Amino acid sequence: MIIRPATIDDALDLLNWRNDPVTMKMSLNQNKINLKEHTDWLSRTINDNNIILYISQSGNENSGMVRFDRKEDKIEASININPDFRGKGLAYEILSNSIDKMQKKWTAPLIEAKIRKENKASIKLFKKCGFKQATLESDILIFMKNKNDET
Ligand SMILES: CC(C)(COP(=O)(O)OP(=O)(O)OC[C@H]1O[C@@H](n2cnc3c(N)ncnc32)[C@H](O)[C@@H]1OP(=O)(O)O)[C@@H](O)C(=O)NCCC(=O)NCCS
Repeated sequence: MIIRPATIDDALDLLNWRNDPVTMKMSLNQNKINLKEHTDWLSRTINDNNIILYISQSGNENSGMVRFDRKEDKIEASININPDFRGKGLAYEILSNSIDKMQKKWTAPLIEAKIRKENKASIKLFKKCGFKQATLESDILIFMKNKNDET
């Protein structure tokens, strides 16, 4: 598997994964996104110094994405696996390798992930990567990982 920065050529894959019904159900923003909105967002994102968007490639295929948003006091992380690659135990390798790669560029004391409480696979995944549950805000669990916690 390789982890590489996303490019504009990844737009269609990213949009398909984003509009997949399971992704929508588990997202904080549950609106369907159209192609124009999406390509505008992707162009801004890949040029934004405070966002890292990685694509994982498994063989010749794009198997998932991990996004890091740098805020003043923390980095927010999110992940979306290509629906064709879900449930195969790949997510840990994708997320942990992405965190390692991101941490070579950015130093941040804290990484945070917001996860819907019914998203059992994501909760397991982030815990396995060293995140700990901090708070619950209505249906959303906040998981945090300190810089020195193991991935
Ligand atoms: C959440 C997501 C990243 C997990 O990736 P995945 O490929 O489906 O998960 P994996 O096969 O790698 O499994 C991860 C863990 O969850 C468990 N798991 C998988 N599906 C599960 C389910 N439906 N219920 C409970 N546990 C589940 C696996 O057994 C594994 O646990 P283990 O390491 O103890 O064996 C992926 O499903 C996804 O992209 N979902 C849509 C977007 C999303 O929810 N993103 C997270 C928002 S914070």
